[in-house]
Amino acid sequence: MAAGRGSFNSRFAAVMALAGSAIGLGNIWRFPYMVGQHGGAAFIIVYLACSLLVSLPVFFAEGFLGKSTGLSALGALEKKAPRWRWAGYVSIIASFVITSYYSVVGGWSLDYFIRSLGGGFSGLSMENSTEVFSRMSSSHVEVLAAFGAFLTLTAAIVLAGVEKGIGLFSKVMMPLLFVMIVVIVVKSLSLPGASAGVDYLLKPDFSRLDAPAIAAALGQSFFSLSLGVGCVLTYCSYMKKEDSLTATGMWTVLFDTIFAILAGFAVMPAVFSVQGLEPGAGPSLVYETLPVVFSQMGPLVPVVFFLAVLVAALTSSISMFEVVVSWLIDEKKLRRPVAVLLVYLAALVLGSLCALLPRVFSACDFAASNIFMTFGALVFVMVAGWLLPEHDVRREFSSARVFSIFRFLVKWVCPVAILSIAITNLL
Ligand code: ALA
Repeated sequence: MAAGRGSFNSRFAAVMALAGSAIGLGNIWRFPYMVGQHGGAAFIIVYLACSLLVSLPVFFAEGFLGKSTGLSALGALEKKAPRWRWAGYVSIIASFVITSYYSVVGGWSLDYFIRSLGGGFSGLSMENSTEVFSRMSSSHVEVLAAFGAFLTLTAAIVLAGVEKGIGLFSKVMMPLLFVMIVVIVVKSLSLPGASAGVDYLLKPDFSRLDAPAIAAALGQSFFSLSLGVGCVLTYCSYMKKEDSLTATGMWTVLFDTIFAILAGFAVMPAVFSVQGLEPGAGPSLVYETLPVVFSQMGPLVPVVFFLAVLVAALTSSISMFEVVVSWLIDEKKLRRPVAVLLVYLAALVLGSLCALLPRVFSACDFAASNIFMTFGALVFVMVAGWLLPEHDVRREFSSARVFSIFRFLVKWVCPVAILSIAITNLL
């Protein structure tokens, strides 16, 4: 491990940081909607299968490269598979691009959290809510200020270092995030008419499980676990040697899945409790529909909800920001403050473009989640499954049984699954 790059001081810190990287806006604004759209419990079963049979082995493959080398994306590939070194750049670019546009949406959550603190949502109707959101998202000054503030918070946490910044923030905020989401679930389920939301989430409809639904489940699982962009690799490079990669991966996938399902129960029963409201994915759900519902549940509920969204977004954005910073520290030998400043300034530029130009935002989102992420994941599984000698990878697995299952999945199942989603997404 390179000197001075930092490390997590416990497995708890590593798991919380990895869970923080995974749990984000994807869990809150995409997962619940996708479940309802693609057959309720039937989709949840496919999602769980994808997470266990594809995403978890990809996590192990990517995490193995980081943990066994103690290096960030570029250095790890250079050491293990020098001919694939350039693919490390793809991870770094992907993480940088995601940090930039993700911080725009993160900025909206900061804006809404501050509004909720000032009681800005009391007595909100659906028309008012749509107007509030469109006024906020079309005001260049407000959007840029919120984006800048969110990115500054992200940079400040990363600046404090792996242990005292990322590790400490995740250890404190992730348990709090779970408490907040459980509070909202309890509130949401106690509303009259909430059962329609529970039906929307759970009624299994296997007839809706077509190829696009399966590709959507796998794509969502990948995005949610931040796979293929170097976050898992970088965070695992900060793990202590004696900490188990397999246990860490399993806990991370478990927490991410539990949180996604909890988010479903926090959001959908609330949406269905109000006549005339429709569930929909993305910004309209979180920033238009939910403020209307939550404002009717008392002044504190919107505060708790938007704080949860903000924390979830921050713990994900710091992981992507750190991928770029760790490359600058490891490979360019920069000190952390200089590396953070450079990434901050560059992300300010790209993020501002994303904030002002919807086309740039969509292009960044499309390229990062449909091309870079799947490409990165494919490289990681090919290196760990085909290129490296078995005994090298075996060392990071304490159980021979787990290793043989991993080896089979990473060699055969993961590449086929990743190529299929890449093709489905590009068609
Ligand atoms: N994994 C992060 C999310 O779900 C990017 O939002």
